[in-house]
Amino acid sequence: MDFMTRPIEALISLANLRHNFTQARHLAPGVEIMAVVKANAYGHGAVQVASTLCSFANAFGVASLEEAVELRDAGIANPIVLLSGVFGRVEMREVARYGLATVIHNTQQLQLLLDSELSQPINVWLKLDTGMHRLGFGPKGFHQAAGRLRSAQQVDKLTFISHLACADNPPATLNERQRKNFQRSLDELRVRTDERVSLANSAALLTRPDMHFDWVRPGVMLYGVNPLSADTFLSAEIELRSVMTLRSRVVALQTVPAGEGVGYSEAWRAPGQFASASPSSRIAVVAAGYGDGYPRHARNGCPVRVNGKLACIVGRVSMDLLAVDISANPDVKVGDVVTLWGEGLPVETVAEHSETIAYELLTGVNQRVKFSYR
Ligand SMILES: Cc1ncc(COP(=O)(O)O)c(C=O)c1O
Repeated sequence: MDFMTRPIEALISLANLRHNFTQARHLAPGVEIMAVVKANAYGHGAVQVASTLCSFANAFGVASLEEAVELRDAGIANPIVLLSGVFGRVEMREVARYGLATVIHNTQQLQLLLDSELSQPINVWLKLDTGMHRLGFGPKGFHQAAGRLRSAQQVDKLTFISHLACADNPPATLNERQRKNFQRSLDELRVRTDERVSLANSAALLTRPDMHFDWVRPGVMLYGVNPLSADTFLSAEIELRSVMTLRSRVVALQTVPAGEGVGYSEAWRAPGQFASASPSSRIAVVAAGYGDGYPRHARNGCPVRVNGKLACIVGRVSMDLLAVDISANPDVKVGDVVTLWGEGLPVETVAEHSETIAYELLTGVNQRVKFSYR
């Protein structure tokens, strides 16, 4: 065994990222696209992702001033929107200084802006709560805030934004209720020709052209993840490709007699009768664990690919290691490649086996995993 270093790595396909962006562009022709790159571009590397998309994306969406400044410092000149707005007075001034745009979702942020002396007017995305009940003004406050922002010297362009709670589940009745609530408030405002409107995340971009308005805001689909719930299929014309492939290697092999456990707490035991015809299981131990961001809750049976062939995790995932039953694949050797998710194994599948969602797995890949960009 000579791996040089611990062999877990995340391979990022920038070609697949571009491909997925093109799919979004194709589905929403003539609509502006904000590529959502918050949380380090869902764990893929914000600077690399934004640098790859900067000639195509009309804007980038981030969660904090720090995330925006990281992109500006790396030379990204596209519009950047702070999707949660600012968290203090100083940040509001920095928004203007860095030429950023910000969401305003409550009266505190509104007042902060109106009380600020800015180096230049900024673009503001005023948020309406249409039914998610997380961020945003109610209809009355939205109307009043729009009136004040329309005449504020601190504001250049105004965009009206809302966010969907159930877009991953297209039949959910809240989707239509949110669209109608949004439309009603927009009608009351009489949106002006220089004002813009935005509602759709990835799931609505894929399934609801009537929700595209002027700006769509895809995040997870750009990274190759189908945002629709497991029983909803993507239309056949759409192909999303995994951007991150997380992989490692086999570092040990074990022959485990029937009835013996593998890993902590013996959470899995080798099947079969002791002293029967096939008394043991063949186990590959892989250098990947929850210390890398692989989910500890992955159940027995969660798939991986060993040398391209499907196999299942057995026992508890530990901090640095996990075990795979390779009894059906006896040629596996120490050093063989194990794909944990990505090409040939959608991260959504691993999420389903781990009581979580692909978003959490992608954003949770740990610092000690080596990233390489292709
Ligand atoms: C306001 C807003 N818009 C768009 C997105 C992108 O969502 P998705 O990754 O589901 O496309 C997010 C992500 O959570 C968001 O918070």
